[in-house]
Amino acid sequence: MKIVFTDKAPKSSLLVASVYEDGSFGSVTKALDKAANGSVKLSVDNTEFNGKAEKMLRLPSVNGLNGQLILLGLGDAKNHTSLILEKIGARLFACLNSLREKKAVIDLSDIPGVKNLPVAECIAYIASGALIRSWSFDKYKTKREKDEIPVLSELVFVSPNVKESQKIFDKLAAIAGGSHLTRLVVSEPPNIVYPESMAKYAKELKKIGVKVQILGEKEMKKLGFGALLGVGQGSIRESQLVIMQWMGNKFGQKPIAVVGKGITFDTGGINIKPSNGMEDMKYDMAGSGVVLGLMKSLAMRKAKVNVVGVMALAENMPSGAAQRPSDVVTSLSGQTIEILNTDAEGRLVLADALWYTQDKFKPQYMIDLATLTGAITVALGYEYAGLFSNNDKLCDMLTSAGETVGEPLWRLPMGKAYDKDVNSDVADVKNVGSGRGAGSITAAQFLERFVNKTPWAHLDIAGMAWDKAEKPLTGKGATGYGVRLLNEFFAKNFEK
Ligand code: BES
Ligand code: MN
Ligand code: ZN
Repeated sequence: MKIVFTDKAPKSSLLVASVYEDGSFGSVTKALDKAANGSVKLSVDNTEFNGKAEKMLRLPSVNGLNGQLILLGLGDAKNHTSLILEKIGARLFACLNSLREKKAVIDLSDIPGVKNLPVAECIAYIASGALIRSWSFDKYKTKREKDEIPVLSELVFVSPNVKESQKIFDKLAAIAGGSHLTRLVVSEPPNIVYPESMAKYAKELKKIGVKVQILGEKEMKKLGFGALLGVGQGSIRESQLVIMQWMGNKFGQKPIAVVGKGITFDTGGINIKPSNGMEDMKYDMAGSGVVLGLMKSLAMRKAKVNVVGVMALAENMPSGAAQRPSDVVTSLSGQTIEILNTDAEGRLVLADALWYTQDKFKPQYMIDLATLTGAITVALGYEYAGLFSNNDKLCDMLTSAGETVGEPLWRLPMGKAYDKDVNSDVADVKNVGSGRGAGSITAAQFLERFVNKTPWAHLDIAGMAWDKAEKPLTGKGATGYGVRLLNEFFAKNFEK
């Protein structure tokens, strides 16, 4: 979708203008009402429309305006955050799109500056929300009804400072572009997205300055990735480890590492999952999808930060070659792992990826994202991702970033008592707890054994990567949860 900023509203068949929560009109709406002898106010008074944030009223004809007018509720605009502005933009997009409009001019230039945001910046955030919402996954629908095909293709935003709006928007569009890529790979079916094709997506990022290195099974075998390779050994798809580097900081900053679980399909393996809902396991690579989208957005906005992004990619299949419950593997760290459940595979690929990353890059912080446990949705539902960490400061930075962008995190405890639960009778560690609850925590304890003192955080995004209900910013389906959060985390704390 094309988004344009201009300092003067061009003639258009559709104009969007503002109304505030107390029912008062923005100056653009006021002028239109005056020119129409008060008929705009009269129409509003005859409806339920009240100017609450995200509410809309369509007036098909207004005297003196040759086209339709959509009044957009901006609510209590002075107290809005950037996130509320983005949600308003997203709702506006969804509304215009459902009205089958092709193009609209949006004049909200009378919005009062919000808290720390000048007007030009507010308008950029509204535009960003529309852009985020404009993504949809419909590439496989070849026989759609005409009225199903999205038609909205251009939004023109009036701004008192076009240059400033454009500058802010370019950064936000880079972030939206990254999360659109994440949403794409997460939505693609597992016959299209598998370890090697994920590696191919990563290679595409070379064009924008990301360094990309790929380890195949042969290389990983030589290095000793016994835990990761064990997960993929039942699949005809070759497992991959993809290492991406964006070194945008010129002052020798120690890198921050981001590692993603990338199970391109999780059948459970020999401990096979029930068929009901197994199709959901196509998004078990969402952690890696976030790493991919994050690297894209950092490069697109030329972030002044050094980031290593690692994708741990494998397909978890049952077959004659698959690993068995009770197998013992030797991980890259040298620690032996007793596999007691082949469906607890995410922690196995992460064990080797985390060890490799801390050993090779000595990051100042290491963060992993994984659709790791169903148990996290028992604890937190679909509202927060679980946060587990050995470092309070890192937790604070991540939690605050998540709150700002609407990708919230809730910290859960870790400790010795839980750690005991992953001791194995036959090996150094076992890949499941003893079944006495706290499944998401024992999974995190398992991971901690492979991070070797590095300040580290684990984000369990199993409940956040995909939405069956409609979300204001991202609609239904893949959410891209994590891309906006980590961009904010870097921008706020590391890009000075
Ligand atoms: N990929 C699943 C977790 C998951 C569940 C992600 C639902 C997204 C939605 C993970 O590999 C898994 O199977 N975990 C098991 C762990 C158990 C065997 C200890 C689970 O949660 O049941
Ligand atoms: Mn599993
Ligand atoms: Zn899994």
